[in-house]
Amino acid sequence: MTILSNRIENFGESATIAMSQLSRDLAGKGVDVINLSLGEPDFNTPDFIKEAAKNAIDENYTHYTPVPGYLDVRKSIALKLKRDNGLEYSPDQIVISTGAKQSIINTVLCLIDNGDEVLIPAPYWVSYREMALYSEGKVVPIKAEVEQGFKITPEQLEDHITDKTKLFIFSSPSNPTGGGYTEAELRALGEVFKRHPKIHIISDEIYEHIRYVGSHFSMASIPELYDRVITVNGVSKAFAMTGWRIGYIAASKQIAKACTKIQGQFTSAPSSISQMAAKAAMESNPSEIKFMVDAFAIRRKIMIDGLSSIPGLICNEPEGAFYLFPKVNSLFGSSFGARKIETAQDLCMYLLEEAYVATVAGSAFGADKYIRLSYAASEDTLKEAIHRISSAISKLER
Ligand SMILES: Cc1ncc(COP(=O)(O)O)c(C=O)c1O
Repeated sequence: MTILSNRIENFGESATIAMSQLSRDLAGKGVDVINLSLGEPDFNTPDFIKEAAKNAIDENYTHYTPVPGYLDVRKSIALKLKRDNGLEYSPDQIVISTGAKQSIINTVLCLIDNGDEVLIPAPYWVSYREMALYSEGKVVPIKAEVEQGFKITPEQLEDHITDKTKLFIFSSPSNPTGGGYTEAELRALGEVFKRHPKIHIISDEIYEHIRYVGSHFSMASIPELYDRVITVNGVSKAFAMTGWRIGYIAASKQIAKACTKIQGQFTSAPSSISQMAAKAAMESNPSEIKFMVDAFAIRRKIMIDGLSSIPGLICNEPEGAFYLFPKVNSLFGSSFGARKIETAQDLCMYLLEEAYVATVAGSAFGADKYIRLSYAASEDTLKEAIHRISSAISKLER
């Protein structure tokens, strides 16, 4: 008999973390595994940010901070939102949290009651679904396939809205697909939201700076939607600061106040030192991080060229982030000796155990015909991964 609550028994474990653990277990046995399952830049945090954190310690930024974060740090976020996104927010509309992940769960808990419908374009980032379910919402996926660039249309959006729809959560560029909406596409979705004033929108812009095609557009810059959009962003991906755990929301004062209330009870505030490091990141010139985006752009091309040439994979050409999400269902029904490939999970296990490449099955992201590969690894590593995947797939027989 379990002693655990239903809430935790029903809570899904992160498939990406599970796959990384399997990959680490194999590596622990001395196998040379290439891990393309994790969503984190392989760069180190830039030196100017580390210096800011060291200074923060020396200057005794080591106490509890105000619950939504230091006023000065919120001011620097407001300036960033103005500079990069053309958005006007005052510091009391901003709440800094322990990673964008906490920013999102705070918001979902503040908005969702039992039975409220939460629209999530699929493929979706694993945590959106779990967070909505944890908040007792009903998840309504809107499916978008590789053929439509993994982007939903206004018609699809309209078709999924009911009088119970309370929230829409999306990321652009997206994890897991890398798909990035254009301004025109977001404005077209915005037209639908204008007709449905009860729906709030979480716009997760964590991959804003990692964009190769087109430019970023913030949903909150549509004036009629400004009050209903919760802009989520952070420093993890763009500044290679995953371990510092700083994310934030910018929203209406009412929502910012509610998120502050929740955060006050759960964590008190995000780390003081990390906030000061994030301030340096926020105040830096975006050109400081261009070298990382340039490196990702080269790797993206290596991966698109390499994977597109493998029979059986239909590969997307993502606008941003550092993931590819090829469609692999034409390989279902094939086999290697006694090993049968019936699902994306079977294929991922085959690639892990026969090619020593860790990937993640699309089923975790609401898309069971696909697998996700992260290209946050060196060019040589990626070329070797493509070689291994190609040779493993060529051994599959019908
Ligand atoms: C789409 C998306 N949103 C949010 C996050 C969380 O970012 P953070 O590290 O700031 O919590 C991630 C991290 O993988 C992500 O992919």
